[in-house]
Amino acid sequence: MRRSHSCGALRAGDAGQEIHLAGWVSGRRDHGGVIFIDLRDREGITQVVFNPALHPQVSELAHTLRSEFVVAVSGKVTPRPEGTENPGLATGEIEVVATGLAILNPSETPPFPLDEEGVNEDLRLRYRYLDLRRPAMAGALRARHRAALAIRHYLDRQGFLEIETPILFKSTPEGAREYLVPSRLNPGKFYALPQSPQQFKQLLMVAGAEKYFQIARCFRDEDLRADRQPEFTQIDIEMSFITREDIYAVIEGLVKSVWKEVRDVEVKTPFPRVTFQEAMNTFGTDKPDRRYGLQLADFTETFRHSSFKVFQSAVGAGGVVKAFNAKGLAEITTGQIEELTNLAKAHGAKGLAWIKVEGGEWKSPIVKFFNEAEKKALTEKLEIGEGDLILFGADQWTAACEVLGLVRIRCAEYLEKLGKLKRDPAKLDFHWVIDFPLLRKDPEHPNLVSSHHPFTAPVEEDLSLLDKEPQRVRGQHYDLVLNGVELGGGSIRIHRGEVQDKLFRDILKLPGEMVTSRFGYMVEALKFGAPPHGGIALGFDRLMALLLGQESIRDVIAFPKNARGQDVMSGAPAEATPRQLREVHIKAEGIPGV
Ligand code: AMO
Ligand code: AMP
Repeated sequence: MRRSHSCGALRAGDAGQEIHLAGWVSGRRDHGGVIFIDLRDREGITQVVFNPALHPQVSELAHTLRSEFVVAVSGKVTPRPEGTENPGLATGEIEVVATGLAILNPSETPPFPLDEEGVNEDLRLRYRYLDLRRPAMAGALRARHRAALAIRHYLDRQGFLEIETPILFKSTPEGAREYLVPSRLNPGKFYALPQSPQQFKQLLMVAGAEKYFQIARCFRDEDLRADRQPEFTQIDIEMSFITREDIYAVIEGLVKSVWKEVRDVEVKTPFPRVTFQEAMNTFGTDKPDRRYGLQLADFTETFRHSSFKVFQSAVGAGGVVKAFNAKGLAEITTGQIEELTNLAKAHGAKGLAWIKVEGGEWKSPIVKFFNEAEKKALTEKLEIGEGDLILFGADQWTAACEVLGLVRIRCAEYLEKLGKLKRDPAKLDFHWVIDFPLLRKDPEHPNLVSSHHPFTAPVEEDLSLLDKEPQRVRGQHYDLVLNGVELGGGSIRIHRGEVQDKLFRDILKLPGEMVTSRFGYMVEALKFGAPPHGGIALGFDRLMALLLGQESIRDVIAFPKNARGQDVMSGAPAEATPRQLREVHIKAEGIPGV
């Protein structure tokens, strides 16, 4: 019984045809001896009817069918009786009256019903091969394929070459912890899995490839969240003889073609550009969700000489006072205020001052310290009215912005629950964040570190500041942001060996032998006629999640890891045998069970 059609193919016009289908039993209903099954394959669902009056033997066998049995069915396409059509199903006008049935393989009872929402995720991941039979998941895999195809076609038309790069590699400086792979043939030595193909794509530019792309697997040993996996996929791009504008144009075209191909949505280009400074000042983050307001305002001057000591001393210490109006959130609960305060404290704030406006009165532990001028400034700039909640951050600029940025997002969640704010997923706020500082302070580092990665070129006109005021130097770095998610990032690179060497040694102050052993080959390559070049990488998993309106990138990856980095289906990571460890020259001291 070879299949003649898929389970999503048959329509009213096919009535009368003798056909063969194959698939999984998605549901079985017994209507007084007449058995109905929903037969499911990758393409859809078709209703099959077994009528004992017409085909007694076949119907008897149909009685033994259970969920997820694999079957082959022969039968005749018949219009459904009037009133029983299902407009929600592509094949809903017809049913197949079965004349033959073969059970190709029975199935154990599935550990969860495949047609139910809200199944525990670890259970879904434990039986991922069943989870992926669900139409929503199968649809995500298909959409991911379509998107990858659209990307390849688009980049091919633009003259890009897809080139693969090694997985067994050396340290890459993307900033996360790396996965190490011991080398059997080189005792005591390790490969590192690439955090991205960064160095290789630059070397390909030195090699004259000019336009490179790869849908590349990357590995980062990070703490995991809904939008982070230990292995993930990038749409990785590098080009020679270009400026930032060329990258923006290529990516805007790419995004446009993906949304068109997969969702039939017209994305408006060019994307607006927001400076890092502006994004931080207004939204408290370098990946703002600008679909809603609640914008931060600055009150540093207002409180410079305030009698409220907390604000006055923050300003005195070179910091800022910032605030925003969570419009309409005066009905916030005490528990929620506490939650916001804990959120602020967890990110280094000493507290979170607030004002509620209720019954025409400002209710707050701190207003008693405010004078009339201060109150007036707040009222005017924040357009304070009845029912509002005002939240304050007083700290160094970066810290104050970042803390209020997080509080702002949480307030948006509260307001959304109250029906007072909407973050519409259909609204696509693509924008570029540009003019990042080249370098930043890192609490865990004595010296400055790169904001993006150390191959990023400084903005030309800031070059003279590099020695004296390195923190004021802007990098030629850009991020693509959509609805509060960092979709991608890249930069124009340093293409001169001596500049790269100086950055490593004099600015980042890496020890000389480390520069030589880790990046010597990069510095060397740049000295052999490296063309000016730059590139970008988009997170393909994040792009797919946003494209399909999914909260978690796990829902657009066939076999993701759980939040502890485990594959709960196969049990990876798993112990190695003492012999395996010996072979790779690893001494198994203190490893349980070894
Ligand atoms: P970056 O480190 O910004 O840049 O990464 C680019 C994009 O990759 C995605 N991403 C992730 N997605 C899922 N899980 C993760 N753990 C994860 N980490 C990053 C994000 C991010 O924006 N080599 C540079 C690019 C360049 O300069 O060209 C790089 O990797 O969407
Ligand atoms: P305190 O004088 O420490 O009791 O603080 C008075 C109020 O100001 C409390 O509501 C604190 O949560 C808040 N607060 C303290 N430090 C800060 C800060 N750095 N930024 C914003 N609010 C603060």
